[in-house]
Amino acid sequence: MKLSGKNQIKRRSALIKSFELGASLPLLLQFPSAFAADHKATNKKSKNIQSKFSNTLEQDSDELSLAPGYEAKLLINYGDVLSHKKDVFGDCNDLITCFPYPNKDSLRFALLGINHEEFHPLYVSGRSENEPVSPEHLKKEMHAVGVSIIAVEKRENGFWQFIENDPYNRRLDANTIIEFSGQQQIAGSSFAKGTLANCSGGKTPWGTFISGEENYQDFFGDQVLNMQTGKRDFSSSSFGWETLDKRPPEHYGWLTEINPFNGSAKKLIPLGRFRHEGATIIISKDKRAVAYSGNDRDGGCIYKFVSDTATSLDNGTLYVASIDRGEWLALDIDKNADLKKNFKSQLDVLINCHAAARLIGGTAMERPEDIKIDPKSGAVYVALTNSVSRGNYNGYVLRISEQEDYSGRHFNAEPFIAGGQQSGFYCPDNLMFDSHGDLWLTTDVTEKMLGKGPYAEFKRNALFKIPMSGPNQYKPTLIAKAPFDAEFTSPCLAPDGKVCSCRFNILVRARSRYKNSPAPGQL
Ligand code: FEO
Ligand code: CA
Ligand code: CA
Repeated sequence: MKLSGKNQIKRRSALIKSFELGASLPLLLQFPSAFAADHKATNKKSKNIQSKFSNTLEQDSDELSLAPGYEAKLLINYGDVLSHKKDVFGDCNDLITCFPYPNKDSLRFALLGINHEEFHPLYVSGRSENEPVSPEHLKKEMHAVGVSIIAVEKRENGFWQFIENDPYNRRLDANTIIEFSGQQQIAGSSFAKGTLANCSGGKTPWGTFISGEENYQDFFGDQVLNMQTGKRDFSSSSFGWETLDKRPPEHYGWLTEINPFNGSAKKLIPLGRFRHEGATIIISKDKRAVAYSGNDRDGGCIYKFVSDTATSLDNGTLYVASIDRGEWLALDIDKNADLKKNFKSQLDVLINCHAAARLIGGTAMERPEDIKIDPKSGAVYVALTNSVSRGNYNGYVLRISEQEDYSGRHFNAEPFIAGGQQSGFYCPDNLMFDSHGDLWLTTDVTEKMLGKGPYAEFKRNALFKIPMSGPNQYKPTLIAKAPFDAEFTSPCLAPDGKVCSCRFNILVRARSRYKNSPAPGQL
């Protein structure tokens, strides 16, 4: 892809410290370039960080590279103090959501809800590869995951800046008590200790946000239902936390709804337990909140939840997509004899959602990642990142058009755009529609494969914009390349509608858990 960008943050200046310390790097990307980089961040670790720009979009160096017209600035680092030295910002970001700061100028102040999907043991707790977790490691690691809520203020030069010690700054981590919605009892408890594996998510129309618990099995392991025997077999985790703190795996893998203004949270049980990449919510014409979510595993399904009301996701019906039939199939034990025969209760269906969905005919997909709705056409776009089992290494974006309303049962589905040499992107991950109606797309090629095999031409993960109209319709444009071993996480529009068309908060994060070692296959 020919792009002669000249704007870039050099890892040696802005990123090297952070990456070598395993920090996550939320970056504020903005244009036009008339805005100068602000070098006076209040955050101590950010104080000496300077933005340096040069033309390397075409070469592959270990830096953040931006197309002309874009600038970036460090917003916050892993470990930065949020509030009075108690809470610190977590590791490995994904979702960012924006909310207006209460009773302040919404063009200048905002709250951000940010997910922390996992952590780098070596950098967070000093644990090296294959070293068993110790109580000291565990304490640090448990605080690195979950969610941060931070206050930000827009400076005169147009860049947003983190407000240290703001009363709205807070953390939810692996030890925060979080109730199950509807006072459900799961494994003998009406609450879970902690939220973790928080990948993407979404905003609700009623002013909260949803954080998707994705690869929960990496933390406390999982109980996997064997459909042949009906037994639940325990599989251990990669982080090994259960060796020191045994917790019910059924307490994780839910969508967690969080109020950014007071930190109250609940896990949404009726929306099912699986590897939730995110949640995209829209109100249907018949006044129901409809939430789309994908199960990011090879052969995972696409789901939608149709709530009974337009103001909560507490009660409703969960459906799984049968792509071949163009039909949403209800995961309702009272309406399906196969579910009745194989599961003890509706809660059992929801806890073992993937097995239940496949049993009734949910279509196995190529790792469903983010889902977003085109505000102009109303179509639902699903990023399918890849399927090694099917030999699909490039991934594609699927377009689902509901035949009736969002709450309806029938749809048409067709591939929208495929990854590969022609489009220039590989392994689509997060999606976002901007206020012009154009689609933004991030890639997530696992770091051990970047520049190799099917990705020989693709050495760094990247951020693309796909015009949905005009002369370049459907031609992806390269906007930025991430440093090696990093990925862009979910793009997010700033809250001020008047300027949001040209301002984005985009996180970049380091991914390798250990230097010189294989990285996790899915993030
Ligand atoms: Fe966390 Fe599906 O990537
Ligand atoms: Ca992601
Ligand atoms: Ca991903």
